[in-house]
Amino acid sequence: MNKSKIFLSLFLFFFVAFSARSGNENLIQNPSGRNITTLNGKWNYIIDPYETGYYDYRYKPYDESTNPGNGAFYLDKKQKNKSDLIEYSFDKSPTLWVPGDWNSQDEKLLYYEGTIWYRRLFDYAKKSTDHRIFIHFGAANYESDVYLNGKKLGKHIGGFTPFNYEITTLLKEEGNSLVVKVDNKRKPEAVPTLNTDWWNYGGITRDVSLVEVSKTFIQDYLMQVKKGSENLITGYVQLNGDLNQQTVKITIPELKVSTEVKTDSTGKATFSIKPKRIEYWCPENPKLYQVEISCNDNTISDKIGFRTIETRGTDILLNGKSVFLRGICIHAENALRGGRAYSAEDAQMLLNSAKELNCNYVRLAHYPHMEKMIRLADEMGILVWEEDPVYWTIQWENPATLANAMQQLSDVISRDKNRASVIIWSMANETPVSEARTEFLKKLAAHARSLDNTRLISAALETHSNPADPNERIVQDPFADYVDIVNFNQYIGWYDGLPEKCDQIHWTIKYNKPVMISEFGGDALQGMHGDALTRWTEEYQEDLYVRTLKMLSKIPQFRGVSPWILYDFRSPRRVLPNIQDGWNRKGVIGQNGTKKKAFFVLKNFYKDMEIKYQKQR
Ligand code: GCU
Repeated sequence: MNKSKIFLSLFLFFFVAFSARSGNENLIQNPSGRNITTLNGKWNYIIDPYETGYYDYRYKPYDESTNPGNGAFYLDKKQKNKSDLIEYSFDKSPTLWVPGDWNSQDEKLLYYEGTIWYRRLFDYAKKSTDHRIFIHFGAANYESDVYLNGKKLGKHIGGFTPFNYEITTLLKEEGNSLVVKVDNKRKPEAVPTLNTDWWNYGGITRDVSLVEVSKTFIQDYLMQVKKGSENLITGYVQLNGDLNQQTVKITIPELKVSTEVKTDSTGKATFSIKPKRIEYWCPENPKLYQVEISCNDNTISDKIGFRTIETRGTDILLNGKSVFLRGICIHAENALRGGRAYSAEDAQMLLNSAKELNCNYVRLAHYPHMEKMIRLADEMGILVWEEDPVYWTIQWENPATLANAMQQLSDVISRDKNRASVIIWSMANETPVSEARTEFLKKLAAHARSLDNTRLISAALETHSNPADPNERIVQDPFADYVDIVNFNQYIGWYDGLPEKCDQIHWTIKYNKPVMISEFGGDALQGMHGDALTRWTEEYQEDLYVRTLKMLSKIPQFRGVSPWILYDFRSPRRVLPNIQDGWNRKGVIGQNGTKKKAFFVLKNFYKDMEIKYQKQR
């Protein structure tokens, strides 16, 4: 091959390599508060279990270096003349709703794990010729490759976090062809790994939007009460575009405060504002302020609550007052539909049910939920635990796995850093103790604190029993030294003995930190009744709740609990016919929306805890 061809190949290789972005570099804060056009709706799709659209017969990717951007076959090519051979047609293929998992949209796809190619045609005329256009995805599970008009925009890994790509130079006024390859195959090196106890819903599972912005626009911003202060609001604004010095104005009209700051050579400006008084956000009064950030012709507004969260000894202090987290765990699923939650209505259904339980807090397990859920929690006054999907047996010694977990954590912190409801970042769930695991989690916690030093760090830590004393349970996890809240799951009475065993157990937890229990519970098929020793009955689950809450209340540092789980949810691991049928039945609300007896045990317990903590104020 002559020198010029070698140079061209190398150039194209590096061009394509760097152009295959992950979509996280310029994550746009608060896309729904901008000039957006939705691409939600029916998209054509091609199911591709053999990766025919991505690999040639040698199972090698179509050669990007010689054909940049066309690293795939299913790129919506059209037959130009009668002799052309094209063995697919999006136009003639069926459709799926976006957003939405594919599993619950078609019986044939319920258990499908593999690749599906989506295609959406759209026209778009910019409102101003010098504006820029981005395409924003709320999430796609698990791995997505995005192409516009035959050119690759990038590859994103991670099934629960947002990503966006600039498409300004590729966009046409008419006939744009957006092709998205989504692959939800589970992999040992992935985050989460091969084994989980939830349904592997695949697809473009959250909103897709076009975002039109000025040539230089406010891409990102942070506003929160500075750690350790009471009414100093600090933050930053990040511009994207012309990086010459610009003036940015930040205003909170209701507090009659504003400030103007200059951006630095990276387009970033930090600021602080000290209002005379702030009405703190809290569950009893979820006060949100309209904030406005402007730079030249670009203005973005948002609704932000201001509060402080910290621990002091064994107390969790919200706005300086001790709080008990009356919680429940929630999967991002609408059990009544049997699919991944994606809509405002889904979020409302889930959080309304939590409110009915007298909850002031929810643990959003085991991965970042949709942004709508967090924004609604802000409005409803519900405190939130958000979790990185580092679940069970992750590949602790794989650097790519650590980088993946860090990226997903960075993305959820970036997306939700302005949400007052979020008070805890969880690093992991039930991860067997080893040196490699603890080193992995320590790195993750350090990364989280470097991004956000105001919120609390926790995880579902490991517990163990004492061989010398069958009634002693011990929480002594090496990672406990690196978290703010000592938290763990425990299933005494379901996986470990019968509910009466709870009466004998005593806990040894030698940490001067708040203690929370992020999971306990047992299965009950809604409407199945019997005595309290008959498995799967509502009476068994009810008795388990009564005894567990009594046991946990003996722990001196007990400051919060989130039983597993609000609604029954799909899991391929739960196969008992006529009882589970592919569902985990630990919900306090059944798959059909009926409240089980345990629901009322928990509701009453929380009512008592609410009164107890109000008296302490
Ligand atoms: C574990 C795990 C959950 C799971 C639950 C169960 O604690 O964290 O994801 O669903 O137990 O066994 O039902």
